[in-house]
Amino acid sequence: MYINESGSRLNNRNIILIVDFGSQYTHLISQRIRSLGVYTEIVSPDDINLVPDILKNACGVILSGGPKSVLNEAYPSIELPLIIKHRLPILGICYGHQLVAKYFGGIVKRGVKREYGPVVVERRESRLFTGVPGRFKVWMSHWDVVENVPEGFNAVAFTEYGNIAAMEKTDYPITTLQFHPEVKHTDYGTRILDNFIRFYTKCRRDWSPVNILDLLEEELKFLKNEKVIVGVSGGVDSTVTSVILRRIIGDDNVIPVFIDTGLLRDGERDWVEELYKDILNFKNFFIYDASKIFLENLAYVRNPEKKRRIFSETYIKVFEDVADRLKKLHGDIKYLAQGTLYPDRVESGVVSKYVDRIKSHHNVVIYGKHRFKIIEPLKDLYKNEVRVLARELNLPSEVYLRHPFPGPGLAIRIVGRITKRKLEILRKADKIVYEEVKKANVYDKVWQAFPILLSVKSVGIKGDVRSYEYIIVIRIVESEDAMTANFYKASWELLERISKRILNEVEGVNRVLYDISNKPPATIEFE
Ligand code: XMP
Repeated sequence: MYINESGSRLNNRNIILIVDFGSQYTHLISQRIRSLGVYTEIVSPDDINLVPDILKNACGVILSGGPKSVLNEAYPSIELPLIIKHRLPILGICYGHQLVAKYFGGIVKRGVKREYGPVVVERRESRLFTGVPGRFKVWMSHWDVVENVPEGFNAVAFTEYGNIAAMEKTDYPITTLQFHPEVKHTDYGTRILDNFIRFYTKCRRDWSPVNILDLLEEELKFLKNEKVIVGVSGGVDSTVTSVILRRIIGDDNVIPVFIDTGLLRDGERDWVEELYKDILNFKNFFIYDASKIFLENLAYVRNPEKKRRIFSETYIKVFEDVADRLKKLHGDIKYLAQGTLYPDRVESGVVSKYVDRIKSHHNVVIYGKHRFKIIEPLKDLYKNEVRVLARELNLPSEVYLRHPFPGPGLAIRIVGRITKRKLEILRKADKIVYEEVKKANVYDKVWQAFPILLSVKSVGIKGDVRSYEYIIVIRIVESEDAMTANFYKASWELLERISKRILNEVEGVNRVLYDISNKPPATIEFE
């Protein structure tokens, strides 16, 4: 099981376990703690309840927020005595705060209205608030409130409306917060998390993503006499995966394969070829043009999950074809490596059962049978950690500063049926968005910037002639880990330049919109 595997990976009793009750912010907590130098792992409540041994590797436990209410009959819970038996400090956040209150006999009530957004809190004396002023702004998102703290606890912060915002146990290191210290709208949030590590736990600050290089060296050495195909895209994740594998098992054994799906952006294939052949000098780099089969299989498909499923089935089949083709040269190839990251696995519902499966990331949920053994060296890391590795490995900045591009590519940026004409339109629009965002020095400030083609047409007028053409949506988002995102407050000038150029230069489009939705409730991609 995953947790045992990674528990023993860092066999030093120095992990903060984050129990995920289904919050969108769980990964933010995890990233913040890692950036403070302590490795984290996200586990489900059942992992703790059923496999309490995982606590042996922990130096602290954080209980996340979540959408459920402890006032409902069946609410997700956790065996707190198991954690206490291991003398592990606990930080409860939002749902975690209410769960602790209820468990120890405090009173939790349904609030009159949902408290969402910024709230000012006033704190009392507590080591948790060392270096934090008496009043500060925090981010709230909850219905339930702790009305009375349990016996043996002190309330240590109150909201401006008089609700309990934080409490702690007097004789055991349990401290809980109604608000979210992990989101950047909470002032001193990182300081509070830092204080938790410093004053409540005995965790050592020895985590850096660079540590993973030594661990992988050990874990992947069994591949030294094997050939491994790496599915590459030119993005930072798959590039770091190829380079790490090459370091461990040698250039002869790594076969980076780039599949032209026909769903790529303009110039993408050339860029990846240049990167792998001329810049990184991979001897076995291989390009395979599978655009015909992808476009055939996806023709007439409108449903997003169906698109993803068909993409995924085709993708793995194409890799099997590639392995067959390469057999003469490389012999039997049993292994396929991918740059899957930690959040990819969570969004695909692989990690916690309380998180609904939102989208099937094609490189996580591989549909259909296949003959490969999958290798995912980065499966425990976040994108920003992979970027640190990319620098450490001296990869060119174009690689680590490159925006993420989803595996199914433009297929999930065309809402509705995919046709060659729509792909052509979207490619031209994409090039313009890229050029303008770069020129405005916005590219490096945002998570992603791209256009989407809606398969609806609207009426317009070009010259003196009525037109009836497609609508392009521009999406520019800021994010720290793609689990949550805000639309970028782009300048009117930038938006106007993009819109003017698309309307003038891209035939078949007569309307350009800007997407002002945050994630949640929207997602970054449209499908
Ligand atoms: P969403 O749309 O879920 O996207 O908010 C979150 C991040 O993941 C990228 N994404 C994918 N990446 N395969 C990938 O490799 C996929 O199927 C996939 N779907 C979304 C998306 O671009 C964003 O950065």
